[in-house]
Amino acid sequence: MSKRINRDEAYNLLHKYVKGENYLTHSYAVEAIMRGIAKKIAPEEVEFWGICGLLHDLDEETCDWRNDMSTHGPVSVEILEKEGFYDKELCDAIMAHNPLSGKIAKTTLEYAVLAADPMSGFVKAVAQIYPDKKLASVKPKSVKKRFKEERFARGANRQYMMAIEETGISYDDFILIALESMREISDEIGL
Ligand SMILES: [Fe+2]
Repeated sequence: MSKRINRDEAYNLLHKYVKGENYLTHSYAVEAIMRGIAKKIAPEEVEFWGICGLLHDLDEETCDWRNDMSTHGPVSVEILEKEGFYDKELCDAIMAHNPLSGKIAKTTLEYAVLAADPMSGFVKAVAQIYPDKKLASVKPKSVKKRFKEERFARGANRQYMMAIEETGISYDDFILIALESMREISDEIGL
C-alpha cells in the first residue's frame, strides 16, 4: 500500500537517490518556489506542493537522461512505487515538469512545477552576475530584463517559465514569489 509521503520522508528519499550538491540545492530551490506559489493559490497544500518541487528531479542520477530525455520523470515514478510512496498527483506533477516524458501539464500544480524548475535556475543565473553573487542583490526588474535576452541562461526554458500564467499568477508576480522564496533559504542554497 502506498501512502502520501511527508516532508521528512521526501527529504530522506531525495538524499538516498541524489548525491550531487548542485542537484540538491536545485531541488531545495524548486521546493521553496513551489511553497511560495502554493501560499498564493493552494494554501492548504503548501507542504505537498513543496514536496512535488523537492522530488521533481528524484531520478536525476538514476535515469539515463543524457541519452534518453523521455526517461526523466518515469524513473522517478518507478522509484516512488518501489519505495511505497506512489501518489498519482505527485507522480503526475513530476512527469509534467518534463514534457518530453510524454506527460503534458494540465492542472495548476503541474503548471507550477513546470514553471518553477527553470525559474529557479534562471534566478540563480541572475544572482551570479553580481559581484557578491547573492540573491539579496537581485532586483525583480533585472530578472525581467534578462528574460528577454535569448542568450542569457539559455537552458532555462522561457516557455515553461511563462506556463505560470496558466495558474492565474502573472509572470511579474512569479518573479517576486521566486525571489522571495529563494531568499528565505539563501544560506542553504549558497546564494
Ligand atoms: Fe529540475
